[in-house]
Order: sequence, then structure tokens, then C-alpha cells
Amino acid sequence: MAESATMIRVAFVGKGGAGKSTIAGTFARLLARRGQPVLALDSDPMPGLPYALGVSVDDQPIPDDVVVPGPEGGPRWVLRPDLDAVAIVDRYAARCPDGVRYLQFGNLWGSAVKLQQAQHAWSQVVAELDRDRWHLVGDLPGGTRQAMFGWARYADSVCVVVEPTVKSLHTAARLLRLSQAKWGPSNLVLVVNKARDRADADRISERLGVRPAAVVPHDPDASQADRRGAAPLDAAPDGAVAHAVDALVDQVASLYSLDEEVAR
Ligand SMILES: Nc1ncnc2c1ncn2[C@@H]1O[C@H](COP(=O)(O)OP(=O)(O)OP(=O)(O)O)[C@@H](O)[C@H]1O
Ligand SMILES: [Mg+2]
Repeated sequence: MAESATMIRVAFVGKGGAGKSTIAGTFARLLARRGQPVLALDSDPMPGLPYALGVSVDDQPIPDDVVVPGPEGGPRWVLRPDLDAVAIVDRYAARCPDGVRYLQFGNLWGSAVKLQQAQHAWSQVVAELDRDRWHLVGDLPGGTRQAMFGWARYADSVCVVVEPTVKSLHTAARLLRLSQAKWGPSNLVLVVNKARDRADADRISERLGVRPAAVVPHDPDASQADRRGAAPLDAAPDGAVAHAVDALVDQVASLYSLDEEVAR
């Protein structure tokens, strides 16, 4: 429980295709609709989050020239002296529907050096963000790698998204071990996605030994929206995904000390 924290800091992890971006983007927008400042953080170099946020997916990552070589004995790259995390968000976070701001991990084109620059810029920015200004909603790439290496350490709540497939379950089981990680989040929350019936959710819950905080039904409208590159929340504002994710916002908000209008 993040008793004293007054801003939500949540990240979504899970196997590829489980529905992390769909749920993270919808979560960010529904939280923003409660009158809250929301910064969506995308560390997936193949971003899916902007679709769910309802913005076109022009690649607009943090440019790699925001870093310069670091001091001797220090990190290899550091943010340019004229920039800090606040300036990076102001300049590079895209403006999305419902007022969500969206910050994307750096560009990986070119060379290993550019990758390193992007990684340093990203980790410094997320470490130095103004934590009182934003609720943070993060989306990680599929699998365990980034999560286990602490890329979501900005989050004190981590949602493990699982769909009812054996492979997704296997990944979720590993990700639930994040509770033992050094940087381990205070709250690990299981979210079942694409459930076709109650039995799907019960089976997953039994296999993982964890009760889900939210069950998001399989909704053909969501996959139809995806085929058109539309956000599920725009395609079906009153649909099953929107309702289930709104309930998840309630659940996650209840872990924090938030005003009543946020934690309804
Ligand atoms: N509740 C749902 N009902 C039906 N389809 C869904 C649902 N949630 C997600 N999908 C569909 O599943 C596919 C994968 O979703 P999404 O891109 O959100 O997953 P992801 O975990 O972010 O994937 P990746 O690891 O590739 O980033 C998309 O086609 C999406 O529309
Ligand atoms: Mg995704």
C-alpha cells in the first residue's frame, strides 16, 4: 500500500499482445477525465500506447541529442545542462485527448551509441520527474526483460496483464515474482484481459494463486478498433473495456491517498 503517496504511479507489464497498451492508454484517459494531470510513459520502442491514447503514431520520441557525455567516473551520458526532466516533458511529451501527455522512449535507429543515449536520457528523465505534478501511467514492452531490469521503478504499483493463454500465464507467473525484486513495487496487481467468461478469470486466478483486481472482458469492438488504428475508448466509449478499466482505476486509486473525486 502506498499510503502516503498522493499521485498514482502505475506501470503495465505482461506478455506481448496481452493488452498492456490497450489497458494502459484507456486507464490514462479515464484517470485524466477525473480532472487529473496524467503523464503516459512509453518505454516500448515499438509503441502501441499512442493508439490507445487516441493520437496518431508519428514517431516523436525524446531525441538522442538531449544528452551529452557525462562527467568522469559518472554515467556515460547525462542530460544537457540546459535541460532537465521538467523541460523534456514540456518540450517532448505529446498532447493527447483528455489532456493526457505522452512521453516516448528514444529513437533506436542507427547505432548502439544512440541506443545508449536514449536509455540514459530515459532513465534520467523518469528518475527526475516531478512526482507531485503527474500521475504516471507506464507501458512496457512485452515479456519480462525490461520489468526485471527495473525499467518500471518509477511505479509503485505494477499491473500484470494476463490473457487466457498458456504462454501469457507463464509470463505473468514470472512477472509476479517482481515482488521479490530489489526495486519491487509496493503493489502488484493482476489484471485478467480478454476474458470470455467468468471461468477464464477463475482459471487464471487459480493457476496464479492471485485474485485479479480487474477482469476485462474480451470485446470484439476493441479488436475492430485496433484494425482501424482507433482507440478503444473512442470506438466504444461505453463499451466493456471502458467499463472494466474504469473499475480498475477505482481499484488502483484506492491504494493511494487521493481526493474523493479521483477515488470515487
Ligand atoms: N479486452 C480486449 N478484447 C478484445 N481484444 C483486445 C482486448 N484487449 C486488447 N485487445 C487486442 O489485443 C491486441 C493486443 O493488444 P495490445 O496492443 O494492447 O497488447 P500489448 O500487450 O500492448 O502488446 P505488445 O506487447 O505487442 O505491446 C490488439 O489487437 C488489441 O486490440
Ligand atoms: Mg503494447
